Amino acid sequence: MADAKARQRGGYAEEISAEELAEIGLRFEVDGEIATVTLNRPEKRNAQTLATWSALARIGAGLPEQVRVVVVKGEGPSFSAGIDLRMFTKEGVPGQGSFGSASGREESSIMELVDQAQQGFLWLRRPEIVSIAAVRGHAVGAGFQLALACDLRIVADDVKFCMKEPALGLVPDLTGTKPLVELVGLAKATDICLTARNVEAEEAFRIGLAEQVVAGGDLDEAVAGKVAQLLSTNREAAAATKRLLQGASGRTLEEQRAAEGAEQAKRLKALFDAQS
Ligand code: CAA
Repeated sequence: MADAKARQRGGYAEEISAEELAEIGLRFEVDGEIATVTLNRPEKRNAQTLATWSALARIGAGLPEQVRVVVVKGEGPSFSAGIDLRMFTKEGVPGQGSFGSASGREESSIMELVDQAQQGFLWLRRPEIVSIAAVRGHAVGAGFQLALACDLRIVADDVKFCMKEPALGLVPDLTGTKPLVELVGLAKATDICLTARNVEAEEAFRIGLAEQVVAGGDLDEAVAGKVAQLLSTNREAAAATKRLLQGASGRTLEEQRAAEGAEQAKRLKALFDAQS
């Protein structure tokens, strides 16, 4: 149904079909201004592959214009167990790629692979949308980074965030390090990453990793409540405000003041024009 609607609007359906997504272990649904991306391989704890990331990038590229809020969630007991560990074998995951094929490659071509994978995460930060990760159970490695790619995290009280990469001889490379440092500070990010320990619900809320912690059974309702709040504000003002907030840490007060003025001038002009 959502598929048919999206096709009519010239959305993602031209880019990637529901059947193709199902094979990769993803679902994508659009209901008016709300899009939901569901990692849907619960039997493998929603482990992610190269195919997952390229499908996420294609969903982002074809996101219908009317969408204002994107919810990212996982089917089953855990949000995501991170990269599918079979990706590190020569055989890989049938039909979904392998990093094993990177053996013998130049570093530059491995970087290209990583660059492609990162595109699956970057679009979730666009100013035109607000993304919410609804996280229950484990969010490990790439799963933690997918949650970090979202603007907000609403979590169940059984959540366990773990940046496992350094324990596996890797670095977190799916765009997670910057938001992690910005959310919790350098010392806490160092602690979390270099110990690869679990961060549970109470700590996640206390250090700013999660906006809200709820009982597992209340997660969907809590997310729906946040979506309704987000949709209650003006679409253009929300996008302009997100641009200001995203740019704030890279600007001086003087530059930020000027940026606020420039955005507000556009908003006021639009409001006055609408009245005349
Ligand atoms: N890759 C492939 N298969 C996985 C998987 C993964 N990351 N995580 C879980 N599975 C599979 C298990 O092998 C098992 O499959 P079978 O039933 O066929 O044996 C099934 O999913 C269920 O797993 P568990 O019984 O272990 O489930 P659990 O709920 O008891 O535990 C878990 C969940 C704590 C997440 C545990 O599965 C686990 O530790 N998984 C591995 C996590 C991991 O190391 N991920 C890599 C992170 S690093 C990363 O992501 C790197 C990067 O981006 C570059």
